[in-house]
Amino acid sequence: MPTLRDIIGKIDIVDVISSYIELKRVGNNYVARCPFHPDDTPSFYVSPSKGIFKCFGCGVGGDAVKFISLYEGLDYWEAIESLAKRYNLPIKLERKEKDSELLLALERVADFYHQELKKSQHFINYLRDRGLSSKTISKFFLGFAGNTDGLLKMLREEGLIQAYERSGNLTKVEDGIYRDLFRNRIVIPIKDVSGRVVAFGGRSLDGSNPKYVNSPESQVFKKRSTLFGLHEAKEYIKEADEVVLVEGYFDLMSLWQEGIRNCVAPLGTAFTEEHAITLSRFTKRVLLLYDGDNAGRKAVRSSVPYLLKAGLSVRVVYLPEGEDPDSFVRKDPKALRDLMDKAQDIQEELLQKVKEGNKEAFENLLYFCSFITDGVKRFEILKELSKETGLSISSLQDKLLKVEPKTKEEHYQLNYHEAVLLAGLYKFGFEGVDVDNLKLSLHALKLLEALRREEYHLIPNYIKNMKLMDLKSSFEESLKVLSLPQLEDSRDFQSLRQKIKEQPRKLRIRR
Ligand code: CTP
Ligand code: MN
Repeated sequence: MPTLRDIIGKIDIVDVISSYIELKRVGNNYVARCPFHPDDTPSFYVSPSKGIFKCFGCGVGGDAVKFISLYEGLDYWEAIESLAKRYNLPIKLERKEKDSELLLALERVADFYHQELKKSQHFINYLRDRGLSSKTISKFFLGFAGNTDGLLKMLREEGLIQAYERSGNLTKVEDGIYRDLFRNRIVIPIKDVSGRVVAFGGRSLDGSNPKYVNSPESQVFKKRSTLFGLHEAKEYIKEADEVVLVEGYFDLMSLWQEGIRNCVAPLGTAFTEEHAITLSRFTKRVLLLYDGDNAGRKAVRSSVPYLLKAGLSVRVVYLPEGEDPDSFVRKDPKALRDLMDKAQDIQEELLQKVKEGNKEAFENLLYFCSFITDGVKRFEILKELSKETGLSISSLQDKLLKVEPKTKEEHYQLNYHEAVLLAGLYKFGFEGVDVDNLKLSLHALKLLEALRREEYHLIPNYIKNMKLMDLKSSFEESLKVLSLPQLEDSRDFQSLRQKIKEQPRKLRIRR
C-alpha cells in the first residue's frame, strides 16, 4: 500500500500550480509573480524535480498540497482531498470521515439550539432588546442552550454523541453524565469559510462570568485562522473590495442588519497572521472598526503589522470613547457611515501628524513601515519622512526593523532586547507589563502571542532557559528600549492641533 507521501510525490507540481497561475519556464525551473504577496518581480519559483515551490520574496514554500491549501484557504487534509479528487488518487481519508461526523454533529446541535431559542420568548426578547430582528436571528442561526437533557437525547438517538464529544463542547462528568459548555447561554454558531458550523460562541445573560465562552480548538476548529462572519460576508467583501474588522459578534450582527455587510471578527483572540493571510485572498483593503476604548486602540496596534505584511492597506475608524460598533450603529448609523467614509489610510494619517510635528507619529509610522512589503510604497513614505525630519533616507532605512528574513536561520533570530523581553515575560508573566506598545519584529510578535496563549511549546529553549545575572532589571531595560509611544486617536489629534497652534514650532528630529 503506497503511503500518502508516495502518492503526493507522483503529482506533477507544475501541472497543479499552473492551473492557478501562469508559470514561465526558466531552465529547469518555472517562475511567476508570487500569488501570496504583492510581487513586482517574479520571485516565485517552482522546481518540478524537487516537487516544491518557493517564493524568495515572502518566504512561503512547500509541496503541491501546501500550495493548494494556501491558495484555496483549505486545511492540509482538505487540500489532499481536492488533489485526490482531481487525480483520482486512492487515498483513504480516515481522518476526513471522522471530521465529517463531527461536522454533522455540530450542524445538528446548532439546529437544536436554534429550535430551543424559537421556543423561548424570554431569550428572543433579549435579542430583540439588543436590536436584532428575527431575520438577523435566523440569518446567523442564533440559539439557546437551555435543555441539556434534550440535547443529549437527540445526540444519542442520532448516534453522534461520541463524535460531538470531540468538539470539546460537551464534557463527560461521569459515566453517562455530561456538561454542556454553553448551558444557559445564547449560542452563536461559528462557521468556516464554506459555511459549515465548526464551533460556537456563547454569551451569558445573567451577568455571570465569563461573559463569553467559545468552543475550544478541535479537529475542525482553528481559532488562529477562523473569522466569524466570513462565510456570510465574503461576497460583500469582494463587492466592496474592502473588509471591515470588528471585535465582537454583536458588533458584526448589528452592522449586518444596518446593511454594512462586509464585516468579520476574530474570535476573542488576538488578530493573527493567519487571519490577515485569509483576508488577503478576498481583498487588499481593510478598515479597522474596533471599540472606542483602550483595548480597541491596542488591538489596532497589534493587528496592523500582520495586515501590512500580508499586503493589505489599512484605514482606521476611531469611535468615541465608550462606544462599540454595535452601540454606535444603533445610535447614529449615519454618523458611523460618515466616520467610515472619511477614515484615512493609516500611513497617510500618521504622515499628516508627522507633518504637524508629532514625534510619536513618526516613531509609529517608521515601525509600521517595516512591515510594508511593497518596496515602492515603503520608499515613498521614507522619502516623505526624510523631507519632514531632515534625516536621510538611508538612515531611516537603517531604523526599519528587519521583518523579512533572508534565510531560514534568520527567521528565528530575535534581537537581544526581544529575547530578554520574552524571557522576562516567560518567567515573570504579563501582569503589570504593558506589552501593547512595543516595537517588535514579526517573529517576536508571534512568540509574544504564543506566550499570551500559554503555548509554551512554541517558545525556543534558549528563551526559556535564559540566564542573566539580573533578569528582572535587564527585562525592564529591554522593555524600555522596545517601547513605542501610544497610538493616538483622532481626538488626541484635535488636541494636538490645538497644542501646535499654541506652540507653532516645527519639530525637527535630530540624529
Ligand atoms: N470575547 C470572548 N470572551 C470574553 C469576552 C469577549 O471571547 N470573555 C470575545 C467575543 O467574541 C466578543 C468579543 O470578544 O464578541 C468582544 O468582546 P466585548 O467587546 O467584551 O463584548 P461585546 O461584543 O461588546 O459583547 P456584548 O455587546 O454582548 O456585551
Ligand atoms: Mn458590545
